[in-house]
Amino acid sequence: MEGHSHHGHHHGGESRLADLLDLDADVLGTYLDELTAWIGEQAVRPPRTVADLGAGTGTGTLALARRFPAAEIVAVDQSPVMLDRLRSAALAQGLGERVRLVQADLDEALPPTGGADLVWAALSLHHVKDPARLLGEVHAALPPGGLLAVVEMDGMPRFLTDEAGAALEARCREAVAATGPDPYPDWGPFLEAAGFETAARRDFPIEVRPASPDGVRYAHAVLSGYRSRLDGQLAAADLAALDRLLSGDSPEALRHRDLVVRGTRTAWAARRP
Ligand SMILES: C[S@@+](CC[C@H](N)C(=O)[O-])C[C@H]1O[C@@H](n2cnc3c(N)ncnc32)[C@H](O)[C@@H]1O
Repeated sequence: MEGHSHHGHHHGGESRLADLLDLDADVLGTYLDELTAWIGEQAVRPPRTVADLGAGTGTGTLALARRFPAAEIVAVDQSPVMLDRLRSAALAQGLGERVRLVQADLDEALPPTGGADLVWAALSLHHVKDPARLLGEVHAALPPGGLLAVVEMDGMPRFLTDEAGAALEARCREAVAATGPDPYPDWGPFLEAAGFETAARRDFPIEVRPASPDGVRYAHAVLSGYRSRLDGQLAAADLAALDRLLSGDSPEALRHRDLVVRGTRTAWAARRP
């Protein structure tokens, strides 16, 4: 996720990102089912091997394994911390035998993907230094008719429903966008330049009223990220408001709030002709 780990060589940072990815999966679960169903509709036939690039803790990997019950999923990530979490999650869901873990740095090269006929890259392509090169390698690795799914998000999700809270979150998001890594570009032209037909692009709006305590933990993780990142960049009143939201005992604390998780994920489905 933007702002939480760029190329993640710091292990404390990586476990924090891993926690956030898991929370994200718990809270936003159903949108992912819609997304994998949509990808399934774009595929010519059910995929036999799926490569998940930048798999993280396995949110996408396991959703893909459930959606395509005959497929083996090759999960690629550079981070051993992520791959360990993915292994435990796959075992816990009884999917261990269908998930193969590959530790590799996608900035160096696409590792062998075992003849994947579906490649999936969720919230990961914008981390790669030379996405055009990687997309070219993915194109070459796919068989004709093979599908590439790219998923990105429009920044961190929003949580607060009252006017002042929503405005505060908007200022946080703006400040992060102003200082943070480049947001992702429109991948459509990149996909076409790499030789793909851009079959389709779809926005998935997310609006979930999360169950407590997951929603509070998720909002806490995101807002405390803003608090530490934007120290000195936000007005003092905004920092104080964040502190009250994050505090354990303030009447304004997150746990006393009505929280709704809102965001948008954009997906591209591209086919190798
Ligand atoms: C924001 S997470 C997304 C994880 C997962 N795809 C999801 O949707 O929840 C990005 C992941 O990409 C991995 N990553 C970033 N750069 C990478 C690279 N050059 N090679 C391999 N993995 C990379 C990170 O380790 C991290 O697990």
